[in-house]
Amino acid sequence: MERLSRQFPNSDSVYYMDMWPFSPPLMVVSSPSTASQAVQQQSLRKPSTLMDLFYPITGGPDLIFMNGEQWKKSRSVFNPGFNPSYLVSQVPAIVEEVVIFKSILQGAGQQGKVFQLDPVTLNLTLDVIARITLDIQLHHQQSPHEFASALQSQMSWLSLGNEFNLFKRWNPARPLVQWYNAYVMDRFLDKELDKHFEPTPGNAPDVKAPRSNRSIIGLSAESYIKERTLGRTDEAMDKAFREFTKTQIRTFLFAGHDTTSSSMCYAYYLISENPSTLAKLRTEHDTIFGEDYTKAESVLAEKPHLINMVPYTTAVIKEALRMFPPSSSIREGSPDCFIVGADGTKYPTDSTLVWVMHQSLHRNPNYWVRPDDFLPERWLVGPNDPLYPIKDAWRPFEFGPRNCLGQELAMLEVKAVLILTCREFNIAAAYDEWDLGHPKNGPKSVKGDRMYQIERVGAHPADGFPCKIQLR
Ligand code: HEM
Repeated sequence: MERLSRQFPNSDSVYYMDMWPFSPPLMVVSSPSTASQAVQQQSLRKPSTLMDLFYPITGGPDLIFMNGEQWKKSRSVFNPGFNPSYLVSQVPAIVEEVVIFKSILQGAGQQGKVFQLDPVTLNLTLDVIARITLDIQLHHQQSPHEFASALQSQMSWLSLGNEFNLFKRWNPARPLVQWYNAYVMDRFLDKELDKHFEPTPGNAPDVKAPRSNRSIIGLSAESYIKERTLGRTDEAMDKAFREFTKTQIRTFLFAGHDTTSSSMCYAYYLISENPSTLAKLRTEHDTIFGEDYTKAESVLAEKPHLINMVPYTTAVIKEALRMFPPSSSIREGSPDCFIVGADGTKYPTDSTLVWVMHQSLHRNPNYWVRPDDFLPERWLVGPNDPLYPIKDAWRPFEFGPRNCLGQELAMLEVKAVLILTCREFNIAAAYDEWDLGHPKNGPKSVKGDRMYQIERVGAHPADGFPCKIQLR
């Protein structure tokens, strides 16, 4: 997709792609102006077909693919749970989960074997999002949790209907596995909901859920209680609220861990490939958290606001997200919506899916100086520097009303992980060793990167990022 977009400079990299019968016609956009037109200036809808495709994971109309009033109302219910200052208060909980992650890295370091990092970061980010969403510890990093395992299995069985391997696409076992996973997830969530939603005699209409608990489940309970104050207490409403909340929780747990895990892996990879970056990171962490790195977790838990005082670490993460964005955006075209290219041509979007391709926009040489080089400095220079990023060219979390609700949380998580691990471990990609034990046909790299991105719901590092961990 990225290579193709370079072939259409006159249209500012807009092109159409028809892959019938594998997907509906696509309009691919990968420049700041065309991306802004698609998701900020025009109110194109999220494609309803995608909501259906993601149904096995979410189980209903989910916040990511909802439209109109339903989306507006739902987003306003959950916004407070992602307020930046509230999230900083959750840093101690994130630190607790990262400490468990660190102990896993220590074990792998002592064994000295090649180790796939992506599944481990996936378990970490799932444990973190469970804290934020359900206000509980799943301990999935230590031993498989029934809900977390069912969700991860559901994601691995997801079919987007474009698999070339027909057995994979129409695998007869899929509906059974998906039914069972959904059953396990809902059974667990029903038990959690009983703790928050059970209408008890003490739950008088004027009772409010405590404002201090802004977990997703808490916010949903609060909105439920608000409806009750309006006198709506019928059984149908109770049931509808339950189903709505289960769907959103499944959505948050899915959206809140997959992409963040991938971002952690790419940050580690790029740091390990750039020793001067690692040295600068360590200096920043020594300065802010003290030179004794064994104390960093207690310092961070006691003074969570320090997490926002690490500009170099933030620059490294932003650059990793530029080079390897784990996601992208998609909208449904409409007869009255046109995207205007650099030459003034109006491109119709009718009957297409408009795909804002972050991967190619973030490497578009028309908008980025040295797009294929890892340069955290571009996030630290002033507007007169040639490296200074162009407005709207970096959009891993997307802009506009449908931007990522969890972006602040994702940044906090990756920062916490780097702050608590970079001084204690050296993590280096070990693809050479991995490839000896896992021979492959065909090319082994994309644009010179062995750690290219593969589709696994979000984009993930090839082969789960095999690496070697050294304790310092
Ligand atoms: C590095 C990590 C992440 C990346 C790169 C990312 C990226 C994105 C992008 C690009 C969108 C917009 C999609 C579109 O416009 O079609 C989005 C939406 C969303 N993301 Fe994230 N995300 C990340 C982490 C998270 C986390 C931690 C959560 C927490 C629950 C989350 C929850 C959501 C939700 C709920 C939406 C839908 C928002 C709406 O439509 O109102 N994401 N994300």
